Amino acid sequence: MTGRYILIGGTGFFGAALARELRARGLAVVTLARGSRGARQQPDVCVDVVHEPERLSSVFEPGDSVVYLAGLSPLKRPVGGRRRYREVHLTGLRAVLKAAESRGLLRFVQVSALGVRPGDGSAYGETKARATEMLRAAAAGAKASGQAMVVEPSVLFGEGSEIIRALKLASRLPLVPLPQIAAQIRPIHVADAARRLAEVLTAKRLPERLELTGPQLLTFHQLAAAYLEPRGTRMVLLPRLLTRILVRVASWVKLPGAPTELEAMLALDNAGSPPPRPQELIVFSKWASVRDSE
Ligand SMILES: NC(=O)c1ccc[n+]([C@@H]2O[C@H](COP(=O)([O-])OP(=O)(O)OC[C@H]3O[C@@H](n4cnc5c(N)ncnc54)[C@H](OP(=O)(O)O)[C@@H]3O)[C@@H](O)[C@H]2O)c1
Repeated sequence: MTGRYILIGGTGFFGAALARELRARGLAVVTLARGSRGARQQPDVCVDVVHEPERLSSVFEPGDSVVYLAGLSPLKRPVGGRRRYREVHLTGLRAVLKAAESRGLLRFVQVSALGVRPGDGSAYGETKARATEMLRAAAAGAKASGQAMVVEPSVLFGEGSEIIRALKLASRLPLVPLPQIAAQIRPIHVADAARRLAEVLTAKRLPERLELTGPQLLTFHQLAAAYLEPRGTRMVLLPRLLTRILVRVASWVKLPGAPTELEAMLALDNAGSPPPRPQELIVFSKWASVRDSE
């Protein structure tokens, strides 16, 4: 493909890695975000897709591919609560789709998350799943040239990722209590995820769906242990029932930053399928054991 890659949310953890990967391949990339304070980097174009939809159509050109990465974490209660998930995952996506279609392009990629499904009770899962339905409907209504793909990453890790920042904080303690979460995940390093996505994005035809999974199958506490044990932090696993009660209470009292979505996350099947060519990918436990914590 010769057009530009417009990365909505291209300054975030995954978006910045994807931008680097595409640029390293000599491709033209435009990152778009609000440019919020404390962001890792400034975008090429500053637009709030929720509140400034009228500014979007001038960004796109025929031949562009659009990757929608703007999203909110399921692990932190955003200011504005469930409404914010609807705004960023749905209102913003709708505005970007409309603007892209008005410029005659529908080579469109939505970055969702592995295991989310409607009816799981979490605002994150509900809105991500509804966003995928919206994308499919837009692709079905588009001209024959329309192409749409949903990308479903497992947990992304790397220096500065949300999960590693949390583990880094925990590693300052001698002992940490951890919830027992039965679900298994296949964490993938952000650089591997960006490379895999770039390979697929630059092919002529997009598949309808792309899972991004890493080479190792782990439970959350195995993942935590792989990071914490080499740093001398011991873990105490909380019984499942106590975990559920604590999560309920944290959601109910609406603690600032409370993990409101955790209850759904406890049941989330985030394992997906093993990746192709696993031998080429970074293994979480190896990576976690050699990285130096600050
Ligand atoms: N990280 C993971 O482990 C993981 C796993 C599965 C799926 N995902 C999905 O992958 C996507 C990217 O995740 P990430 O970890 O890179 O997230 P992130 O670091 O929080 O980045 C989010 C990006 O969206 C932009 N953004 C947020 N609100 C916006 C708005 N109203 N208008 C324009 N831009 C906006 C942010 O920049 P500004 O704040 O400057 O606007 C930032 O560039 C998300 O959809 C996430 O759900 C992530």
